[in-house]
Amino acid sequence: MAIQSRALAALAALATLAVAAPGYAGGNQTGPTYYKDVLPIMQENCQGCHRPSGQNLTGLVAPMSFMDYQETRPWARAIARKVEAREMPPWFAAAPKGVFSNERGLTDAEIDTLVSWVDAGAPAGDRADAPSARRWTDEANGGWEHGTPDLVVRMPRPYRVEDDVYDLNISFYMKLTAADLPEDVWVRGTELRVGDNRITHHMCAWVYPPDEQVRADGSRVEDGSAVLGEGATAEVEGSVRLSCAAQGSEAGMLPDGYGVLLEKGSVIGFHMHYYKEPGPGTAVTSQAEIGLFVSREPAQYAVRTEEIFNRGFQIPPNHPRYRVGSSRVLEHDTHVVSLWPHTHKRGTAARYTAIYPDGTEELLLDVPNYDQGWQVTYKYREPKVFPRGTRIEFDSWYDNTPQRAARQDFDSDRFVGHGPKTNDEMSLGFFSFAEAASILEP
Ligand code: HEC
Repeated sequence: MAIQSRALAALAALATLAVAAPGYAGGNQTGPTYYKDVLPIMQENCQGCHRPSGQNLTGLVAPMSFMDYQETRPWARAIARKVEAREMPPWFAAAPKGVFSNERGLTDAEIDTLVSWVDAGAPAGDRADAPSARRWTDEANGGWEHGTPDLVVRMPRPYRVEDDVYDLNISFYMKLTAADLPEDVWVRGTELRVGDNRITHHMCAWVYPPDEQVRADGSRVEDGSAVLGEGATAEVEGSVRLSCAAQGSEAGMLPDGYGVLLEKGSVIGFHMHYYKEPGPGTAVTSQAEIGLFVSREPAQYAVRTEEIFNRGFQIPPNHPRYRVGSSRVLEHDTHVVSLWPHTHKRGTAARYTAIYPDGTEELLLDVPNYDQGWQVTYKYREPKVFPRGTRIEFDSWYDNTPQRAARQDFDSDRFVGHGPKTNDEMSLGFFSFAEAASILEP
């Protein structure tokens, strides 16, 4: 204990020497301290991802934990840099503010506190000033954040991501048996456990309707809960995206009254994107799970996910900022619950705009620094209502230059169009919504 605190003091002293800016006396008693000023900010804004990984951090887990002073201190410089640049906590939308329930960000005052704490040598301060430790619901709950799911569906079997795999998109399908799901239910929320966090770039869960027995690649989905095949993502009429987990997205509960119909006999799709350094001994076995929170009471609003898309584009070689646009006119009054812009490696920005029937325009989402490593779903606090006849535009921008290609590992010397591989591109403006016409009679 004594040794530990002496080592700490030495570390702090060293750090003070190394980083103290002119004008700050080392150990300045009036400036911010870790326990009093920094820890509350980190509990609120950082620890959700920066903590030792439980099984289920739905892809949010960060490689370094910031739970206490000892863990945080070595990262002080990096923390100041990341918060000043507004790169942490991760949030990519410049506008609008205050409308998405999962919005993250620090106030200017909080950034000032963190930066001046670091500038002053990152002093610990008095432990008695510390707030009590924050409790995380998933830790007390077998890894599930929203309580015990009503139904847990696992990938048909653990999947071995072999030594030579670097970047792999693969899908698994499970048909729900009568034992899994004896009757139709409404999904109110979904939590994903991606399996092995270290190799899972992201994962999406979809529901395919019971009568949909043929996948996009032409193979048949067999009855029973056997292995239902592996292949590319099926694009199937009537399918519904439940949720995706990637760095930056989290478990999803729908607003009250909204639900996704899960019919008995449906097929659940696990669309996995694995990503790791290839090499001998790097193989990892992983099995994802989907926890479903359901109710038998019909939801008032039936939610489905569709995309505003353009699959006809060709991004020219070496183009620094190519725009791909698409739009869609809403046929009914529509309640939008979330937006999810999706591109691949060349994508640098994305935007959704509404053009109302009376011609007025509204910026719905502006992501000026899109990063495909963070597949954020922007969830409305309150579902956003659009009258029928509203046109929603989705625009995305691409950098197909050798400079970006060198960082992101793609070929910038060719035209690139829509395709499923990470080296192809996509311009998909997903949105999850309920149409007023889908409102069910009680
Ligand atoms: C949504 C999850 C999430 C939240 C919230 C979050 N981080 Fe991170 N952070 C990550 C992940 C994942 C990484 C590693 C990957 C990366 O650097 O993009 C990371 C990396 C970092 C790094 C290391 C950068 C480097 O130099 O390698 C720092 C420092 C950091 N975060 C600080 C913070 C601070 C400070 C906060 C709160 C104000 C915060 N993070 C909130 C997920 C998060």
